Amino acid sequence: MFSVWGLPPGHLPIRAEGDGHILGSEGVERTADYRSLAGRIPPRVSSPVPQSRRGHLPLRPLDVIAKKRDGQELSAVEIEYFIQEYTRGEIPDYQASAWLMAVILRGMTRVETAALTNAMLLSGETLDLSRFPAAKVDKHSTGGVGDKTSLVLAPLSAAAGIIVPMISGRGLGHTGGTLDKLESIPGFKVNLSVDRFRQVLGECGCAMIGQTAEIAPADRKLYALRDVTATVESPYLICASIMSKKLAEGVDALVLDVKTGSGAFMKREEDAAFLAELMVETGRLVGKQVVALITDMDQPLGTHVGNSLEVIEALEVLGGGGPEDLRKLCLDLAGWMLHLGEVAKTPQQGKAEAAKLIESGAALEKFRRMIELQGGDVGVIDNPSRLPQAQHIADVTAPSDGFVAEIDCQAIGVASVILGGGRNKKEDTVDPAVGIIVHHKLGDAVSAGEPLSTIHYNSETRAGEATALLEKSFQIRKDPPKKRELIRRVIGAASTET
Ligand code: URA
Repeated sequence: MFSVWGLPPGHLPIRAEGDGHILGSEGVERTADYRSLAGRIPPRVSSPVPQSRRGHLPLRPLDVIAKKRDGQELSAVEIEYFIQEYTRGEIPDYQASAWLMAVILRGMTRVETAALTNAMLLSGETLDLSRFPAAKVDKHSTGGVGDKTSLVLAPLSAAAGIIVPMISGRGLGHTGGTLDKLESIPGFKVNLSVDRFRQVLGECGCAMIGQTAEIAPADRKLYALRDVTATVESPYLICASIMSKKLAEGVDALVLDVKTGSGAFMKREEDAAFLAELMVETGRLVGKQVVALITDMDQPLGTHVGNSLEVIEALEVLGGGGPEDLRKLCLDLAGWMLHLGEVAKTPQQGKAEAAKLIESGAALEKFRRMIELQGGDVGVIDNPSRLPQAQHIADVTAPSDGFVAEIDCQAIGVASVILGGGRNKKEDTVDPAVGIIVHHKLGDAVSAGEPLSTIHYNSETRAGEATALLEKSFQIRKDPPKKRELIRRVIGAASTET
């Protein structure tokens, strides 16, 4: 049923070349090109008790943590040992948290990143989708605020004849997660068995699930831990997290949406480009076509932030409406998916085709079918008020006349988490109904007292905290800000036109 590209145990799918060394702390200006730092990864550990490098003592989690804390390069054996043992429950969360924090502070070499991606990929199985003749293409975002593009892109690309086997995540830090959004649809199941996942793919061309015990289980555990230990913002951890689960899906090609700006994990465009290159290169090493779009996250994407609110906005786009920025990004990403999936000669043709599939209603019909096959209430398509709704709403208003000059996009994400739309602890459950509607975006003219945003809430205390944060999130100035491009650049493509 499963294979890791049909390779026998001991073969690593990802092989880097050359020697590697530590790149240095996060946030420190990097001048070195990581591609020149790559090294060969030793074969997979087969010994039940891996040995440490110093002396011939068995490896201990403590030594692996200390080595990374001291800024040394971990071997592939050490990384694989740590990931395997953590996945099996032999290493507790507190030691994994310490290791993650050491990685955040010390960084990783290109070689370590490839080894970590491998170890996480090999913690589970790789889906064999070879029985589907169509191209298998997926899209993944590095995480943003109000980013509901996956809900549009999976059915839209499937309507074009591509297979979209989407394995998504939950909210991470201040960013929303596709699984949490889907689960706001009453009855929708994201934990399908692999066999059922394949059946749904066969019947409608797209399926959206979370990591299972079989697929990249290491990422499932680490992702939840990073979410609550302030250990998300590392390009190496993000690369390994995304690429391990995407490579496990058995896709032929992958489109990455790498966010940059105040609401992204990579605040600076050069850091986003670094992460994009890291992931494109990792894909290249395993023979997958990967294209990354660096896109703006200096303000929420679209206007709705929060789980069921975002489903409503995705339905608007699939229905031919929705806010301009969200619609544009969906069409551009779909253009690339259709191009890499070989149903369009160029990304531009793919974009035009995607627009037609929205106009004809074919994309929305795919979404309806997918919801039905995954046990959800299809009634939400024609009647979004069937989605969970908060008991109260309240406006947050502009303090003065002027233009919206700056938005602290991360604070808007945090406000949504405070309302209950995300998690502070692993065990927290999310409230699907709460969130924020943003009425004014960067460059808009506003008058004093006009609503800038509306919160949807179920708890007065939480609403008070979120309001205080939102009041500080919008900067109103006399002059309008410089216009920001939504799509900054494309990495990994022969053509950079979008
Ligand atoms: N998305 C993921 O799947 N993993 C990360 O680490 C960040 C965004």
